[in-house]
Amino acid sequence: MSDKDAKTYPPSDEMAADAHVNAARYTEMYEASINDPEGFWREQGARVDWMKPFSQVKDVDFTLGNVKINWYADGQLNVAANCIDRHLETRGDQTAIIWEPDSPDDEAQHITYNELHGHVSRMANVLKNLGIGKGDRVVIYMPMIPEAAYAMLACARIGAIHSIVFAGFSPDALGARVNGCDAKLVITSDGAPRGGRVTNLKDNVNQALLNDFDDVKCLVVKRTGQQVAWRGDLDFWLHEELEKVSDDCPPEAVGAEDPLFILYTSGSTGQPKGVVHTTGGYLVYAAMTHEITFDYHDGDIYWCTADVGWVTGHSYIVYGPLANGATTLMFEGVPTYPDASRFWQVCEKHKVNQFYTAPTAIRALMGQGNDFVTKCDLSSLKVLGTVGEPINPEAWNWYNNVVGQGRCPIVDTWWQTETGGHLMTPLPGAHAMKPGAAMKPFFGIQPKVLEPTTAEELIDNPAEGVLVIADSWPGQMRTVWGDHERFEKTYFADYPGYYFTGDGCKRDADGDYWITGRVDDVINVSGHRMGTAEVESALVAHSKVAEAAVVGYPHDIKGQGIYCYVTLMGGEEPTDELRTELRNWVRNEIGPIASPDLIQWAPGLPKTRSGKIMRRILRKIAEDDFGALGDTSTLAEPAVVDDLIENRMNRK
Ligand code: WT7
Repeated sequence: MSDKDAKTYPPSDEMAADAHVNAARYTEMYEASINDPEGFWREQGARVDWMKPFSQVKDVDFTLGNVKINWYADGQLNVAANCIDRHLETRGDQTAIIWEPDSPDDEAQHITYNELHGHVSRMANVLKNLGIGKGDRVVIYMPMIPEAAYAMLACARIGAIHSIVFAGFSPDALGARVNGCDAKLVITSDGAPRGGRVTNLKDNVNQALLNDFDDVKCLVVKRTGQQVAWRGDLDFWLHEELEKVSDDCPPEAVGAEDPLFILYTSGSTGQPKGVVHTTGGYLVYAAMTHEITFDYHDGDIYWCTADVGWVTGHSYIVYGPLANGATTLMFEGVPTYPDASRFWQVCEKHKVNQFYTAPTAIRALMGQGNDFVTKCDLSSLKVLGTVGEPINPEAWNWYNNVVGQGRCPIVDTWWQTETGGHLMTPLPGAHAMKPGAAMKPFFGIQPKVLEPTTAEELIDNPAEGVLVIADSWPGQMRTVWGDHERFEKTYFADYPGYYFTGDGCKRDADGDYWITGRVDDVINVSGHRMGTAEVESALVAHSKVAEAAVVGYPHDIKGQGIYCYVTLMGGEEPTDELRTELRNWVRNEIGPIASPDLIQWAPGLPKTRSGKIMRRILRKIAEDDFGALGDTSTLAEPAVVDDLIENRMNRK
């Protein structure tokens, strides 16, 4: 593609004049951040309040076998104090959180910073009463209700480490995560309404904790009032516990490098790993990126449609916005309930200024027609954002023209659970956007494009290869919970001296970056990351399955769909009923987001003579790209490929 000729969208004069960062300032700040990282990040460290000021800024080594990442290491602070207490004097009566419930017929809530202070302090005291202290792990498995944010901040207030598990995950997946971080407590709600349907969250917790967890307590928020089964004296209603505590809970001084949270995410091999983010650097980076990427100004109403179960919810619903004293909107529902107008009605109702969502939602809504959008007054919108996967130009143009009415810059933010915050994005007042491009590195970020096999750095433009980052930034993950060796192997072994992102990328003739997608066995389904190995291991756990190989394929709405090649045990019949059974099986093992889209019966899988499954070939078949199968002569049984092609699934 000749990106030089692609249409670009420069910032309006107004935007460039009012923005925190315009083009000249971007260049000046970026250069400073690269030439003098210590000085740059020392200055940015002042974005947060320190209980004990830091003297050290950066202490980083990317050398395999010796990887360490420390920022502001001798400083102490408290995240909840930064997100709440320090704002009380100037904006105690300002709304901190607007909560919009699943049903538009129910009333929205406006929670001020003063009220947030009370809710969080009391919840923190409840946690203490339940025996939770500094360094203890608390799993949060909640709907998108204000109590989810209170729970996160209550943990932060007492120095406990939270690990949020997305409420769409199955009991098995929840149990594995409770076990993985050795949690003492699970915070949940009775039920979770979403799109008019209710999930029995407490039931899921009961199932997850059924065996071997008779020391894990559970704190339950009453959301729906439905009947729930109680695990004897291990379970507690939040509203009852709140009656026993005061709202006086001084924030604990926490080391900058003490963990703030663990968040499990899928990788190319094995089971999900616990990404560890720490306190000081993470907060500085989340706050800075939130302010600059979205060009957030005091008084703006900001809405990120993510769920707190994903990193986007951590950094850009809760920590970044609240650290900046923003008004952040939390939405319990889905974009299509009661109809495809919901997002835009919420924007109109609450006069949203910055709106941040995922390409998969944009594509789904685009398909419903423009009336759902145009009947709403979207004049409050100033900046639009996307995250999670590459956005196709068609969806970008619709977002720009129909939602943004051609006057709102779109920040296409590329980042990862591991990176804590945005690593590449156009800035609203600085860069001429190109539909689908992540454009420019954020301050302090040094992207490099490497030739995948030789690891040679590609200097000239244009370039295409794998994307690595040459040096650390404060929001970077520090380790994998309980397994530092896995951390080093996953991110620092393939391309020595660099952080390996797992993404491929192009840098065009102008030096702008375009993310091309994962280069490993991770697929991106509706912006959610899924390890193909995880789906495979769920499939082979079924008694009728002998072997399985899972790949992604292009899907109109989801970006990628889940395509499974399944070899059955001898004597098993490949029926449609079995297909349904396997699909439900995977949903139960992992959760609905892992539901196989297509299951193809495969009498044999293409393997090398040493028995390694050749996924490259399976991917091509799933993509309907038979011309490009490449060399199949090294296969143990080349004929299996013909069978797979002949019986490939119809992708429609
Ligand atoms: C992977 C990370 C970070 C929050 C959401 C996902 C893909 C993310 C973009 C984007 C192209 C993107 C990458 C990345 N990705 N944002 N703007 N353009 N691709 O977090 O689950 O950790 O997934 O999502 O492939 O590696 P995650």
